[in-house]
Amino acid sequence: MTETPRIWIIGASDGIGRELARQYAQEGARLILSARRMAALEELATRIGGAEIRPLDVADRASIEEAARAIAATGPVDRIVHLAALYDPGRIADLDPDKAAQIITVNLTGSFHIAQIGPRVLRAGGQIALCGSVAGYIGLPQGQIYSATKAGVINLAESLRAERADLDVRLICPGFVETRLTEKNDFKMPALIKPEEAATAIRKGLAGRRFEIHFPHRLTRSLKLVRALPYALSMRLTRRLSREDDT
Ligand SMILES: NC(=O)c1ccc[n+]([C@@H]2O[C@H](COP(=O)([O-])OP(=O)(O)OC[C@H]3O[C@@H](n4cnc5c(N)ncnc54)[C@H](OP(=O)(O)O)[C@@H]3O)[C@@H](O)[C@H]2O)c1
Repeated sequence: MTETPRIWIIGASDGIGRELARQYAQEGARLILSARRMAALEELATRIGGAEIRPLDVADRASIEEAARAIAATGPVDRIVHLAALYDPGRIADLDPDKAAQIITVNLTGSFHIAQIGPRVLRAGGQIALCGSVAGYIGLPQGQIYSATKAGVINLAESLRAERADLDVRLICPGFVETRLTEKNDFKMPALIKPEEAATAIRKGLAGRRFEIHFPHRLTRSLKLVRALPYALSMRLTRRLSREDDT
């Protein structure tokens, strides 16, 4: 990584991405900021002392292509961090099918577009990070359709890592972070952390060597353990969570 790396953050206008942009700017990185809301990106760019702004909608492949062309025209990128996603939790029986389709398009198809188009703007050996979630580790009650898309993103990142030895492919799996995304949760979120802590964990993880950056460990390690159990045991636990929801 160069002294002043060029970093493209997709999903930079809010939450974890916005805080990550702020921290990388403090380190002296040259930033490219993407999301749908131009005004929020401009405000952030001003606040962090300047950045290249490339608005896009990850559900609209043409807008990603256009941004990538403009970015490539001014030189290679060292790191891409793709964080854009939508969240609308609920039980499968209650889901609005149109909303569910939109979440799949933004979270999963959007990550596929970035996995395909992103490498074109990277320097040789450059880094690309996709964002899964602990919600993608194992099916829990109330988590659909978001959790299914995050399981898909985890799988996508694993495939990209296997296929692209020429790149540094990473996977980010946060636990609960206090952003507008989790404002929708009506339950007490275990091990909830602030975006500052999440962004710091991401920066440290991406500077390290591990494929998966997951945090906070007090939550992620126990969920990994549940995932590793035989279904007969893990489903006993997840059904119990479902019954607790009913009461
Ligand atoms: N917060 C948590 O507890 C948590 C836990 C696990 C995983 N994660 C993951 O972490 C990532 C960041 O989450 P967050 O909590 O920071 O969410 P957030 O505060 O809602 O921010 C999401 C970002 O994605 C952008 N975005 C949404 N739809 C987009 C689209 N179609 N095209 C381009 N940009 C789009 C939003 O900007 P615009 O609205 O301007 O487009 C915003 O900048 C997500 O991938 C999320 O799934 C979060």
